[in-house]
Amino acid sequence: MMKKMLSFLVTAAMLFTLAACGGSPAQSSESSSVPQTSSSQPETPSSSSVSSQPAESSSEAASQPAEPAPSSSEGEPASSPESQTSEDPASSEPEEQSGSKVLVAYFSATNTTEGVAQTIAASVGADLYEITPAQPYTSADLNYNDDNSRSTKEMNDPSARPEISGSVADMSQYDIVFLGYPIWWGEAPRIINTFVESYDFSGKTIVPFCTSGGSGIGSSATNLQSSARGATWLSGRRLNSGVSQSEIAEWVNGLGLELSAE
Ligand SMILES: Cc1cc2nc3c(=O)[nH]c(=O)nc-3n(C[C@H](O)[C@H](O)[C@H](O)COP(=O)(O)O)c2cc1C
Repeated sequence: MMKKMLSFLVTAAMLFTLAACGGSPAQSSESSSVPQTSSSQPETPSSSSVSSQPAESSSEAASQPAEPAPSSSEGEPASSPESQTSEDPASSEPEEQSGSKVLVAYFSATNTTEGVAQTIAASVGADLYEITPAQPYTSADLNYNDDNSRSTKEMNDPSARPEISGSVADMSQYDIVFLGYPIWWGEAPRIINTFVESYDFSGKTIVPFCTSGGSGIGSSATNLQSSARGATWLSGRRLNSGVSQSEIAEWVNGLGLELSAE
């Protein structure tokens, strides 16, 4: 009995010594640096919902997407969509805006443009306004494979002006309006015409932007220009759904807008 206890004690002592010498598996608990999502820009809500939509590309370079046969009723390709060259690659700091009051107005049927609009608004410190159709677009409405869908019919009719629900509280307070929309058949949806024709934009600067399955902004914005007389239209651009605030800041800084306080 005594022998047993003795051998037990000796074994325990040996184990203790071993542990003290580092024999035990280290617990490397440098608790892993949590992968930090540093970019605080809002992520575009995913938008896959529309029935038989073309694959929504996230790649800028995508060539012509399944583009529904454009009605070609409106507009020859307009003057060169300029590629903006930003002289001073901007800091990724959001612009402090107090020189000009900025509005980001957008229409978004499946939320892609909405995400981009939110990023722009956050980046430049702008107010945000959603152009909301009085009659919301259903998936069937957006089916461009259907010749009789609402969107097809609207886009085939240059005079279509879908009604907007609500309005911008006081458009006169804004100096700069970013105007965003999805490309539909190579154009801005007709509700953008409704919007542009609803306000007096004289003296204001309009900066168009779009999202698409791959098509560029093309002549979609220049086709709107005659509807906003007296406004200065900057050349617009297509933005990817996941565009970051720093990309936006770089783009906006290259536009030469007077956004910051003097
Ligand atoms: C009726 C309709 C027509 C479209 N036409 C085009 C097109 O001509 N070229 C293109 O690249 N994408 C086209 N698309 C895809 C949209 O431009 C793209 O999915 C856009 O990012 C959707 O934006 P939203 O989610 O803000 O509505 C079309 C989508 C719809 C519903």
